[in-house]
Amino acid sequence: MIRATFPTLIYSEPLVRSGLGRFNAELAAECRALRDFDEAGRKWSLKNYPGGYTSYASMNELHRFSSTFALLEKRITGHVHRFARALELDLRGRTIRMTDFWVNIMPASAAHSLHLHPLSFVSGTYYVVTPKGCPGIKFEDPRLDRFMAAPPRLPTAKSANRSHVTYPAKAGNLVLFESWLRHEVSQNRVDAERISVSFNYNWS
Ligand SMILES: [Fe+2]
Repeated sequence: MIRATFPTLIYSEPLVRSGLGRFNAELAAECRALRDFDEAGRKWSLKNYPGGYTSYASMNELHRFSSTFALLEKRITGHVHRFARALELDLRGRTIRMTDFWVNIMPASAAHSLHLHPLSFVSGTYYVVTPKGCPGIKFEDPRLDRFMAAPPRLPTAKSANRSHVTYPAKAGNLVLFESWLRHEVSQNRVDAERISVSFNYNWS
């Protein structure tokens, strides 16, 4: 008998079944307007998010200030509950709560290097504008530093056995993961902006 043990769960689902076209268009306009408005964020991005814009360090509680983001928060929270149930987390009667919510705009050539999300337990991204050919989100096997002398995986290995797995960025789709799981977005090689919004959840 061979069994998968200590699995790493990643959640990927459409936010809602249908009717997202208009909502995403409004959201994209709001993300771009935020970039125009957020001088501190543009300045921070120059150093820390080269080639792109993120409101991560400047305007990172957008669900408290924007009705569009508040609606999105409500929809995402339902999915986070579903994910927490799949993880069989004992929340001890505490509440799952979104703590941070921010915008990411990646024009051509922008990239986001390997990172994780401290001070939260579930994080994720919702895709707003995803031009054809734009990069997905690439996850790294959390045990990678322990592989020592292990041989590499076959090029034909199924995704559960690979050390890196990429989930495509698709407008209207939501990806959730446990916040300790390292991930990155490789360079955007298409000449169009890729827009996403990311968030962290805590239990308190
Ligand atoms: Fe991230």
